[in-house]
Amino acid sequence: MSKCLIAPSMLAADFGNLQRDTEMVNQSEADWFHIDVMDGHFVPNISYGMPVIQAIKKHATKPLDVHLMIEKPERYIEEFAKVGADIITVHYESTVHLHRTLRQIKDAGCKAGIVLNITTPVSVLEDILPECYMILLMSINPGFGGQKFEDVTYNRIRKLRNMIDRQGLNTRIEIDGGVTDKNIEKLVEAGADTFVAGSHVFKSENPTATIKRLKSLSNA
Ligand code: DX5
Ligand code: ZN
Repeated sequence: MSKCLIAPSMLAADFGNLQRDTEMVNQSEADWFHIDVMDGHFVPNISYGMPVIQAIKKHATKPLDVHLMIEKPERYIEEFAKVGADIITVHYESTVHLHRTLRQIKDAGCKAGIVLNITTPVSVLEDILPECYMILLMSINPGFGGQKFEDVTYNRIRKLRNMIDRQGLNTRIEIDGGVTDKNIEKLVEAGADTFVAGSHVFKSENPTATIKRLKSLSNA
């Protein structure tokens, strides 16, 4: 399996000190910035959009992993690429033309991935997997940080890992929601290799040390 990556979620950053928190991630052992975009339709919350992403990009020295929780994401792919997205993931549940949308992401120069809500069976990915750099499995209901991790995720990871191995691919499996130093090893054991962590990192006393701990636990 590939090296495990840590992507702190900027949703939990202090927006009044965005540059400070961006620099913290730069200086830490984190691999990516996780950027949550919410439109108040696909999920019951509104987060931030292009200007904020652009502000993060201005200081970020690591790739931006942009998670779109918006309806019909195909309307905005080029704009997200333009403000600095490196990886763009779209929800399976958010667009009818998933295949076209993935192509659109790649044509815009970004790596493409699909996100599944907890109740969407992993089996829907069977035919589209070769088109994906990464699959993001939600381990909470999307929309808010700080929620409790759902245990059903372990089995979903195992199923997806099997499917990826069976097809001889090296697609990344990213887990988003409620990831902490208490469950990350078990998630690696199930087959995941990329981890989003929001509140666990930013609400901790020493975010840099928390990132370091997640990184070493997952790569032990
Ligand atoms: C929620 C977002 C997550 C969120 C995770 O819809 O997709 O990325 O920031 O936050 P924590 O790690 O606090 O569960
Ligand atoms: Zn996310």
